[in-house]
Amino acid sequence: MRQSLIMGNWKMNGSREEGQQLAKALAEGLGSVNQEVAVCVPFVYLSDIRTVLAASPIALGAQNVADQASGAYTGEVSAAMLADCGVKYSLVGHSERRSYYGDSNESVAKRFVQAQKQNIIPVLCVGETLEEREQNRTFQVVEEQLDTVIDAAGIEAFANAVIAYEPVWAIGTGKTASDEQAQEVHKYIRQQIAKRSQAIADKVQILYGGSVKPDNAKGLFAMPDIDGGLVGGASLDAKGFLQICHSV
Ligand code: 13P
Repeated sequence: MRQSLIMGNWKMNGSREEGQQLAKALAEGLGSVNQEVAVCVPFVYLSDIRTVLAASPIALGAQNVADQASGAYTGEVSAAMLADCGVKYSLVGHSERRSYYGDSNESVAKRFVQAQKQNIIPVLCVGETLEEREQNRTFQVVEEQLDTVIDAAGIEAFANAVIAYEPVWAIGTGKTASDEQAQEVHKYIRQQIAKRSQAIADKVQILYGGSVKPDNAKGLFAMPDIDGGLVGGASLDAKGFLQICHSV
């Protein structure tokens, strides 16, 4: 049985004070849960939020990580720096990074490898655009995104990694993939892993992201290959996010 993981992604929202209040509300309101809960916060607030979450089981995540270990890479934040700030997870290859900042499959693979070198669990985000879905290229796109990382890091690396399927057309649009649409792709992703290692396929957590809300979380999380969620907008509201956490 895989443990569920519910991860909030705050993206570029909120002030220090708002972030601290949100984290405090989550820490106080979570109660006892079997699933893992984490929040991916802006780099500059990692240390502040770490302090607020210190006594709670909620884990700290980053939204990105540099594709190099250290050196002259102005503006980047290394995996070692994140580890230093108490980060347990880092997103890699979020669709907003891929589409607005040009993160290629190759650079995403490097970020994945850098994170793992510092014992940070990479959360590899994959997913197709609306155009790609309409061209029936969903599986192909997801497979390419996945394969580049498997080729670079090796299948064994997925024993300590998380995959998040986030169809780009469902992100921030209020348009969620149906339970069946999401399950179909999750199953496909797990099959791709199983081709190389059944044991790792059985173990790897695959999260769904894209307009997860309190009212649709339960249905999604009940699907056999959906092991939790990567939640954007709805993670900025403590009450709603906690409800999602308890939808597993
Ligand atoms: P929304 O939940 O706002 O659609 O965002 C999803 C996402 O991108 C999480 O990483």
